[in-house]
Amino acid sequence: MSKKTKSNAGNGMYYPEESVVKRAHIKDYDSLYKESITNREEFWAKEAEKLFWYKKWDKVMDDSKRPFFKWFTGGKTNVIANAIDRHLESETKNKLAIIWEGEPGDKRTFSYFALNREVSKFANVLKAMGANKGDIITIYMPQIPEILIAMLACAKIGAAHSVVYGGFSVEALAERIADAHSRFLITADGGFRRGKPTNLKKIADEAMRRSPTIDICITVKRTGEECYMENDRDFWWHDLMGMPIASPVCPTEKTDAEDPLFILYTSGTTGKPKGLVHTHGGYSVYTATTFKYVFDIKPADRWWCAADPGWITGHSYIVYAPLINGATIMLYEGAPNHPYPNRWWQIIEKYGINIFYTSPTAIRGLMRYGASWADKHDLSSLRLMGSVGEPINPEAWKWYYEVIGKNRCPIMDTWWQTETGGFMITPLPVTPLKPGSATKPFFGNEVAVVDDSGKEVPAGTEGNLVIKNIWPGMARTILGDPDRYVEKYWKRYEEQCYYLTGDSAKMDEDGYVWIIGRNDDVMKVSGYRLGSAEIESALVSHPAVTEAAAIGLPDSLKGNIIHATVILKDGFSASDELTNELKKHVDNEIGPIARPAFIVYTDSLPKTRSGKIMRRVLKARALGQDEGDLSTLDE
Ligand code: PRX
Repeated sequence: MSKKTKSNAGNGMYYPEESVVKRAHIKDYDSLYKESITNREEFWAKEAEKLFWYKKWDKVMDDSKRPFFKWFTGGKTNVIANAIDRHLESETKNKLAIIWEGEPGDKRTFSYFALNREVSKFANVLKAMGANKGDIITIYMPQIPEILIAMLACAKIGAAHSVVYGGFSVEALAERIADAHSRFLITADGGFRRGKPTNLKKIADEAMRRSPTIDICITVKRTGEECYMENDRDFWWHDLMGMPIASPVCPTEKTDAEDPLFILYTSGTTGKPKGLVHTHGGYSVYTATTFKYVFDIKPADRWWCAADPGWITGHSYIVYAPLINGATIMLYEGAPNHPYPNRWWQIIEKYGINIFYTSPTAIRGLMRYGASWADKHDLSSLRLMGSVGEPINPEAWKWYYEVIGKNRCPIMDTWWQTETGGFMITPLPVTPLKPGSATKPFFGNEVAVVDDSGKEVPAGTEGNLVIKNIWPGMARTILGDPDRYVEKYWKRYEEQCYYLTGDSAKMDEDGYVWIIGRNDDVMKVSGYRLGSAEIESALVSHPAVTEAAAIGLPDSLKGNIIHATVILKDGFSASDELTNELKKHVDNEIGPIARPAFIVYTDSLPKTRSGKIMRRVLKARALGQDEGDLSTLDE
């Protein structure tokens, strides 16, 4: 074991090695940070100037319609102009953009030149099939190169994509298609997961039946499993890509900086999932800048973000930021522990991955198998590593640092959200690290931990995490529901104009931020964000259930596990069979990630006099803790 098991300075801090600092883009965080918050607009304008614009912006930031902020107004760009087109004019043209490996071991690679061809072809297919600028195209796919090609093709023609994670099931997909009024669905027959084909098209068929807005469904053949194809609605990707409509030359649509690039749904406390809207201009600038400085990307690097493209982590840091920076992206279809728990380490060795980014849940999961699986592989190509999605416990942090990073690779614990578009609180490679802390705000950002009145709490005290400023990558609104956007994020600290993150946190004496977790009814199950409302409505859609309440309980592996309390309709009684059936029902409606670990039956739920379920009380009961103040309880 290494000399640095306790921290390489003995004071709990981990300092980067000289070589890391030497090559880092940013060597002095403090001075640039100060400058970036003093002259925020200048800072972002300078970063934006590094990108290509068809027409430069008139205004960097427009706050005339608070809280509907705009960035780079008057500017004309398209994320594709930066992620693909401009690379075709440089040496990057023949560099690998994507290295993909399927779970069964099949491989495909795309240079920037080849990626442009595929994206252009598919963009032309979409146009020929009637897709237009302004459409929202739903994408529901496994981790295959076509998911990236489809996303990029949408962006190229100025249509917004709405990617629905491939692990979601019927109702989750149907709800998102309906909310976006999508006419187009792009999917696949399935993908491979733990040696078995998944059945995406079947789920898509049922979702299309429930949400009949889809006119055209394009399916990639991946697994070769038989699928139902409806005349005039269903088309095979490979058929269309083989037709003359799929010309390899397609001009990129010159979008306004504020035109929507994508919608991404995320769970809220109540009601249906929120479709957050991200734009071409500000999002490009923000993701490109954060990626470059935090992961210190250089031309020769091979980057692997082992998330699914269907989540914000994948959108920002598998697809857009790496491509804008001209990086080589690794994409792997399968699970980390199939067929053996060395699958990821094997890939790092095989492809010489330099920077690796994953979630605490994955680290904890792999840690269980011990170091020997990682020790079988040469991981010396790694230079930097990252963590995202939930707080990383110091034990997992240290294992990651020692066993995977061999005490050489700083861990970038990046705190951010679907809403923020990119990293908000994060170390840089030069930042002294404290295991478990996301450290300090990224350039341009000021964060605070406040009480309910908006007053900053003393160091070490828990409170609400807020962002005091605005930033180019922020979501602009919630699709079709601007009031909810105001209500959810800006109402609470309206006077101060703080963005409410929904997380509780502490800040220590050194200004390091320690995230504690969500302080609303949002759960983080294996890093996946799930709202109590979704799980409850899935349960209630079962014929036996009349009412349900879902809460997250702490779990040492998954972060949270789901605990559901249900009230049955007359004529039904609790049994193990019913419990299993309800779990399966949630799988079918939302997806296996939302399956409750526990279901308990009751005759009544603790509610306030206004009828709100007191999940706090349920949680205390489930954990055998004191139920706290019950004065608002109805009975
Ligand atoms: O609670 C925080 C947690 O994930 C939430 C955002 O979830 P989502 O929108 O799905 O985005 C996840 C990927 C960016 C946050 O409100 N979270 C995210 N990153 C961290 C984190 N908690 C602690 N540490 C992190 N690094």
